[in-house]
Amino acid sequence: MTGSFPAVRPRRLRSTPALRRLVAETRIDPAQLILPLFVRDDVVDPVPITSMPGVVQHTVDTLKAAVNEAADLGVGGVMLFGVPSDEVKDGVGSAATDPEGVLNAATRAVAAEVGDAIVVQTDLCLDEFTDHGHCGVLAPDGSVDNDATLGRYRDMAVEQARAGSQLLGLSGMMDGQVAAVRAALDNEGFQDVAILAYAAKYASAFYGPFREAVGSTLKGDRKTYQLDPANRREGLREALLDVDEGADVVMVKPAMSYLDLVADVSAAVPVPTWAYQVSGEYAMIEAAAANGWIDRDRAILESVLGIRRAGAEAVLTYWAVELAERLRKEG
Ligand code: PBG
Repeated sequence: MTGSFPAVRPRRLRSTPALRRLVAETRIDPAQLILPLFVRDDVVDPVPITSMPGVVQHTVDTLKAAVNEAADLGVGGVMLFGVPSDEVKDGVGSAATDPEGVLNAATRAVAAEVGDAIVVQTDLCLDEFTDHGHCGVLAPDGSVDNDATLGRYRDMAVEQARAGSQLLGLSGMMDGQVAAVRAALDNEGFQDVAILAYAAKYASAFYGPFREAVGSTLKGDRKTYQLDPANRREGLREALLDVDEGADVVMVKPAMSYLDLVADVSAAVPVPTWAYQVSGEYAMIEAAAANGWIDRDRAILESVLGIRRAGAEAVLTYWAVELAERLRKEG
């Protein structure tokens, strides 16, 4: 054969590491990573979470150290979750609105410690604080009462803002929660506290390890308020509604099984779209790697890259610090 066939050779751009680096379409910057952190109020040492190797329930002191470490590595933000002791849990999640409750107290300590070095964010949901483990308060018939829950979220939002949270992560999936919280914040002079709406949050099996992480008391499921994994259009609808209600950022959760939603939402909304690589996604890779069935480092990077490639501008991931460290070294 004369001349060269084929003339079009996409492999040319893959032939050296330098070329591959030059033409990479997606990058991960540590500033686009957010580290979820758990803080517990009744322990003197951090408690390992069995189903999430490498992740712990922090004391306030070790939490501060973890946030400082993340800030030093250029991680964009931390998302704080409170783990109250069982004795303070009740039907309405009182500890969530107690200024001395574990999450509010820890937020105050962390915000004072790190200042502007990293964005301090808090989970705004009742499930860690209620004795029944649901994300809202219950009606007499046992169902989750949407509108009564909004009142609790309003109060929680104001306490978290007072404690110094800059971005409230609304993860409860109640209708109208973004508008309700926005109004409450504005009423109290917290116009500059931003709202991250867990807009498309699915009723997922991949939250399994998280339930251990927060000592969840839930029996049953969250299918009457979290989205059905079968539904794509409905996820987009939730995101559009939250933007209308004033969400500053929207999120898709979980990430890996919902990359179509990440693509849909990021293309449709005029605000940043983030995704949450949840506990089960973390646990799967860690477990497979521990068995020698998967290359841990490559799998971690590829999983987060895939979420970024689908359209997420930032990713909540339990590997945020480890990844930031690696990205710094490897450039
Ligand atoms: C609810 C909440 C959950 C997660 C974050 N916020 C659990 C749930 O909805 O059951 C899951 C996070 C993860 O699995 O990593 N406050």
